[in-house]
Amino acid sequence: MTMHPDVERILVSEEEAREICRRLGAQISKDYAGKKLLLVSVLKGAIVFMADLLRYITCDCQIDFMAVSSYSGVKTTGVVKFKKDLDINPDGCDILLVEDILDSGITLEYLKNILIDRNAASIRVCTFLDKPTNRRANIQAEYVGKVIPDEFVVGYGLDYNEKYRNLPYVGILSPKVYADK
Ligand code: IMP
Ligand code: MG
Repeated sequence: MTMHPDVERILVSEEEAREICRRLGAQISKDYAGKKLLLVSVLKGAIVFMADLLRYITCDCQIDFMAVSSYSGVKTTGVVKFKKDLDINPDGCDILLVEDILDSGITLEYLKNILIDRNAASIRVCTFLDKPTNRRANIQAEYVGKVIPDEFVVGYGLDYNEKYRNLPYVGILSPKVYADK
């Protein structure tokens, strides 16, 4: 796999991403056997992880999507905008929020608070990447793919201004790409 010229270094290779999905999928399948699992993915960044993870989940489950946005370029605005709600009524479901990356935690805290009022049986978080050094909200993920340093990363669903989502690996975006923006 040749690296995109805007990527400085690969943090999660295709092979490692697959291994992470295999490990988390097995754990989730065990933990949710016999439950009413509803996987809720946060658009758009988490779709690649959701699609890969899903294929390693062997217990019955449903999937749905929510959409919010808080990012502009490489910085969170700190204000979450709600863009799309669930189609499925989560009443009585064991919700697993599937995220691409947990950074400040503001997005997930916001979503969790919305879902808490909907009578879900339980709500947990599964994130592909975790950047714990930048946390501002009181939120942890029960399932974590990989802990990474506080760098701006792209690929495997993650974007910079809607670009790079299609890269099959996660890489650190070269600062020269956003230096003079
Ligand atoms: P939080 O609200 O700060 O936790 O941000 C969560 C969301 O911000 C993620 O779902 C991503 O969409 C986006 N985000 C955070 N860090 C990065 C990054 O390094 N690259 C791309 N998107 C990111
Ligand atoms: Mg996201």
